Amino acid sequence: MIWCGLDIATEFSEALSSRFDNISDANIASKPDVFFLCSQSTQSICLSFIDDCVGGIPESHILTIPDGDDAKNLSVCETIYTWLKDNNAQRSSLLINIGGGALCDVGGFCASTYLRGIEFWNIPTTLLAMVDASVGGKTGINLGHYKNYIGTFSTATYIFITPHWLKTLPQNEVLSGWGEVIKHGILLGGKAWTQVQQPIPNANDHQAWLGILDWNIKIKSRIVNADFEEKGQRKLLNLGHTIGHALESYCLDQEKPIPHGFAIAWGLVMESALATKSSPKVEATESLHQTIKSIVEGLYDPIHFGEADIPALMNYIRADKKNNHDKLLFSMAFAPGECDFNISESAEAVIQVLIQYVGHTN
Ligand SMILES: NC(=O)c1ccc[n+]([C@@H]2O[C@H](COP(=O)([O-])OP(=O)(O)OC[C@H]3O[C@@H](n4cnc5c(N)ncnc54)[C@H](O)[C@@H]3O)[C@@H](O)[C@H]2O)c1
Repeated sequence: MIWCGLDIATEFSEALSSRFDNISDANIASKPDVFFLCSQSTQSICLSFIDDCVGGIPESHILTIPDGDDAKNLSVCETIYTWLKDNNAQRSSLLINIGGGALCDVGGFCASTYLRGIEFWNIPTTLLAMVDASVGGKTGINLGHYKNYIGTFSTATYIFITPHWLKTLPQNEVLSGWGEVIKHGILLGGKAWTQVQQPIPNANDHQAWLGILDWNIKIKSRIVNADFEEKGQRKLLNLGHTIGHALESYCLDQEKPIPHGFAIAWGLVMESALATKSSPKVEATESLHQTIKSIVEGLYDPIHFGEADIPALMNYIRADKKNNHDKLLFSMAFAPGECDFNISESAEAVIQVLIQYVGHTN
């Protein structure tokens, strides 16, 4: 169940109360079965939220893990499993993840593997997690610099989404989430596509955000519900991600990490250039590419790589999970709202596009 609105405290307290057989709020605090996971930078927001909603949760039932992708590894998983075990978490226990996409990913992964799986809820606090990471049932951690290489398909039973959290979110993180919003706008076309060409709303404009969150959650849920385990059309959600993930991993190798959505935004630009090569409607695809390029150039810092870096980028592209043996497979948009998946491209065509963007991004 996905809830999106403004009065999250009421919705959350009621959901928690009904999860535990309609016991009163006061009793929830003494219920040993609820565990809260938060991250260092969201700790203060999280703790005051938990206090407002349920109060009195024993400190031992709240675990704070590192921010961002520093938490998406086996060592942090071990910390989470040990914390759950030491506090007698059972199959009947509930883990509540409060944080960005990284925290929801690692929390969901641990919940879906601890004792072969316990229930978890997500409270996403970044734009990216609200429109993408917390929705759709993919959990995961990284293997070295290979993103999300280990994971499960497992859905949070409740997801609480509210634009309130956006007011403390640094602008870079808003932009990062906007990268996935642009992707959803391309997939949906129509009004959504028009909206992503407008300025990003101010964090306090809750009504504007509720509208944007609503269509983003709907498009993601519609695609996921039709193909949960990504055997077919869910691959559409990987638009921009083959080159995007390669850029993200490459920047990590250079010790100059960039936010996920920045890499996806540039991935959308480069993959839309690639799409012009195999498009059944070249003019529409070229026009789409030019519009995506102008949106992304207007919002995102360039990613610097040189021609000598292309083999390293190609190694990441070849290792993409969507590929089938030696075939490089992409999801592609040929016009707004007209997308397809499993489009095979030659390594030469991909290299040509990367070369094109060496000059552009340097
Ligand atoms: N599972 C999926 O389907 C899926 C989809 C897309 C992305 N992802 C993953 O999501 C991660 C990226 O997520 P993200 O962009 O949310 O980044 P993030 O989780 O790293 O959060 C970014 C930073 O913002 C901080 N933060 C979170 N909420 C805040 C708030 N309200 N105010 C101030 N600071 C806040 C975090 O602590 C962190 O430092 C990546 O690991 C990516 O692989 C997963």
